[in-house]
Amino acid sequence: MKNLIAGNWKMNGTLDGARALIADIVNGLDAYDDVKKKCDILCCPPFLYIPAVRHSLHSVNYVSFGGQDCSAFDNGAHTGDVSAEMLKDSNCEYVIVGHSERRQYQDESDKTVQKKAEQTHKNNMCAIICVGELESQREAGQEQHVVREQILNSLPKASTPENTVVAYEPVWAIGTGKTASPADINEMHNFIRDLLREHYKDGHAIRILYGGSVKPDNAEEILSIENVNGALVGGASLDAKSFIAIAKAA
Ligand code: PGA
Repeated sequence: MKNLIAGNWKMNGTLDGARALIADIVNGLDAYDDVKKKCDILCCPPFLYIPAVRHSLHSVNYVSFGGQDCSAFDNGAHTGDVSAEMLKDSNCEYVIVGHSERRQYQDESDKTVQKKAEQTHKNNMCAIICVGELESQREAGQEQHVVREQILNSLPKASTPENTVVAYEPVWAIGTGKTASPADINEMHNFIRDLLREHYKDGHAIRILYGGSVKPDNAEEILSIENVNGALVGGASLDAKSFIAIAKAA
């Protein structure tokens, strides 16, 4: 299975900064043919910077781009929303849905996340569906229960390896510098793999990314764990050198 290294730029940077970052990523990867061959590399800029990133990537076939979210609705009276159709129209290939920051700060439920993933599928893009437990839930031993519910209620029934990637991101590891231990990651990714096998078509081949403070110095260890098929990278994706180092580790 090809690893996916996905950068989530979140709400960071400026237009000039986005142009510089994508140029540095493209130029930095240029010499690494094996990385380009063995990894899918994705950048998810803020919506407003997608046209600039698209422009910078027009003749580049080894970096894709996508949205960080999309509307749960087709179109119409949804002020401030961006539809999956608009992202597709802008040549996006992926959409991140159900990131914990949206679940937490925008009160997104599993049902909402599922609708967003369905919109993504309907527009022939791949949904990166995020799941993960809070620290208090892990302390209470509920992490598998929480992740199971999120997966079964957020992934559309028609999820396949072509249209869906699952990202396991323990909420307490995001942006904190804390990562789950390799043993915990291993256990959770095996648990998710079994769930996907049981409930989804070709679930054995749906990629499962790990996310939460992935950095160049821990990437190799994390990416070598069974059933870790890539990484969703926040902070370290804002630095081209770090992002490329993570792709090289994969
Ligand atoms: P982080 O973010 O790498 O900064 O922890 C990961 C994410 O939120 O996807």
